[in-house]
Amino acid sequence: MNDTANERADQPRANGRFAGRTVLITGAAGDIGRATAVRLAGDGAHVVLADIADGIETTAAMCADVNAAAEPATVAFDVTHEIDVQRAFEDLSAQGITADLLFNNAGYQGDFENVVDYDATDFRRVLEINVTGVFVVMKWFARTLIATGRPGAIVNTASMAHGGAPNMAAYSASKAAVVALTKTAAKDLAPASIRVNSVSPAFIGPGHMWDRQVELQAGTPSQYFSDEPDEVAAQMIAAVPLRRYGSLDEVAAAVQFLLSDDASYITAFDIQVSGGAT
Ligand SMILES: NC(=O)c1ccc[n+]([C@@H]2O[C@H](COP(=O)([O-])OP(=O)(O)OC[C@H]3O[C@@H](n4cnc5c(N)ncnc54)[C@H](O)[C@@H]3O)[C@@H](O)[C@H]2O)c1
Repeated sequence: MNDTANERADQPRANGRFAGRTVLITGAAGDIGRATAVRLAGDGAHVVLADIADGIETTAAMCADVNAAAEPATVAFDVTHEIDVQRAFEDLSAQGITADLLFNNAGYQGDFENVVDYDATDFRRVLEINVTGVFVVMKWFARTLIATGRPGAIVNTASMAHGGAPNMAAYSASKAAVVALTKTAAKDLAPASIRVNSVSPAFIGPGHMWDRQVELQAGTPSQYFSDEPDEVAAQMIAAVPLRRYGSLDEVAAAVQFLLSDDASYITAFDIQVSGGAT
């Protein structure tokens, strides 16, 4: 393929599968949230972009670029502050915006330390963002949607770290909790016709989390990784049967499928976007 063909192949298809749907995305200023927002906007969705970081406006501009009809809205809240989350949903409702789809994706990796050295304050912070935050946003999304009587779907971002990644005690525990929380929410929300699934990415890049984990694993003594970042990156890739890290858009594609009506009979499921890494 020439460069133009490559560029065209990389564009999300504007086939309108999400026309008339409104998706709220948390962590929308980050790498995976942004890639997913652009993909869903390109597929016809209205997007509501949430984060505490400034980058949501950039994501909004990118969504409008792929599809002028996406009409991106932005909302700033910390997922750990329930009152702010509640107000954000109430404000959106007052503006006539009710999301029927949720990509519940904001997250924090935390420190990299052996469990004997792990700081309890950081441990609590990771669980607060990755577990309590996911729960709180899901709760207010569902309450708001149920009040309208419409069906919907949720995808929570877990991680392959749910199996227990070295030096990542808090993150691994938090992502295992997201998988369990997803299954409970799927049961609780099934009577309201709201499906709840999760995605578990493994090594995804390029991006902030990939760079950070390579650098911090190299800086944290362990029998599992070298102290040289380049070697750590190679060790991580060697653990993946497909022998590469996944792209941001490959995570977005799994989220797009789970949120779409193509997944209408799938709930309480975790899709591993891992290149075969377990
Ligand atoms: N990138 C990877 O390799 C990878 C692998 C597995 C899972 N994940 C998960 O994917 C999700 C997105 O990660 P990413 O790679 O895009 O990382 P990222 O750091 O680029 O994005 C995370 C976003 O979450 C936001 N956020 C953090 N705390 C918040 C809070 N309290 N309130 C509101 N927003 C908050 C940040 O501002 C940031 O924009 C996370 O849940 C992460 O754990 C990422």
